[in-house]
Amino acid sequence: MIDEAKILDSILASKNYNMLCNDLIKRIISEEAKKFNKEKDIIKHVKNKLHTNVDLFFDNNKINALINSDFKNDACLLELLKAHTSTNERLSIVQEMYFDIFKKCKKISSVLDLGAGLNPIYIPFVPELQNKKYLALDVNNNTTALLNKFFIERNISGEAVSCDILSKVPNEHYDIVFMFKILPLLEKQKKNAAINLINSLDAKYIVITFPTKTVSGRDVNMEQNYTNYFLNLANSNKLKIIFEKNYSNEAVFIIEKI
Ligand SMILES: C[S@@+](CC[C@H](N)C(=O)[O-])C[C@H]1O[C@@H](n2cnc3c(N)ncnc32)[C@H](O)[C@@H]1O
Repeated sequence: MIDEAKILDSILASKNYNMLCNDLIKRIISEEAKKFNKEKDIIKHVKNKLHTNVDLFFDNNKINALINSDFKNDACLLELLKAHTSTNERLSIVQEMYFDIFKKCKKISSVLDLGAGLNPIYIPFVPELQNKKYLALDVNNNTTALLNKFFIERNISGEAVSCDILSKVPNEHYDIVFMFKILPLLEKQKKNAAINLINSLDAKYIVITFPTKTVSGRDVNMEQNYTNYFLNLANSNKLKIIFEKNYSNEAVFIIEKI
């Protein structure tokens, strides 16, 4: 008999995973427990999944060192944006990208950022993101704690919540939902996760992005592969794409929900 609670404790005892929300770890344990009979095999495969799908992008040591710094200081925020691979990669295109998104999506007063990472830290630098109700969800408790401190110190009407977006998402309406660089990770965590999530959201617009270079900066045809993947997904599920653009290292699609 597999003891899933004991496996959860053993994974939370590792400093590499103790910052992740319990719902995510529990979900992955119960999925892996269907495939393996021995606890040690389950632990190994859960850790592997957590490492490749969640942990890889985040320099936790750097974040922990910066959590007590001055959030009112723009230079400190820039250091934070550089500490997470995804926000670091977005630095050179962020103004153009948000300008394009908000030109296409009008009358936005609420934003839901799924698998947010440190993306909300861009708010003080991007006028289009300001003065909106902003909810950021992420599995990493360190990220959400840091974001809440940032929202308070910058007097932003935002909130960050630790949660596994494949276990539950809010059912209230948001004008726009950001799913930045998260679809491939969700698909690796659970088959058909992307389309099920898109269909379940109550939103007018969903902005979906993909990385077009590897974490180490190599171009391995990611732009073409993700574009083909997403256009197929959109076609077969009758999603209405109203905007599509490739920036230097990120491909952006906007869906209008009908
Ligand atoms: C590649 S990063 C993208 C971060 C951010 N969206 C951006 O582009 O700047 C993926 C993020 O998704 C989060 N994540 C991964 N799986 C998740 C899940 N099941 N539920 C919520 N967040 C998740 C990770 O913690 C990480 O911050």
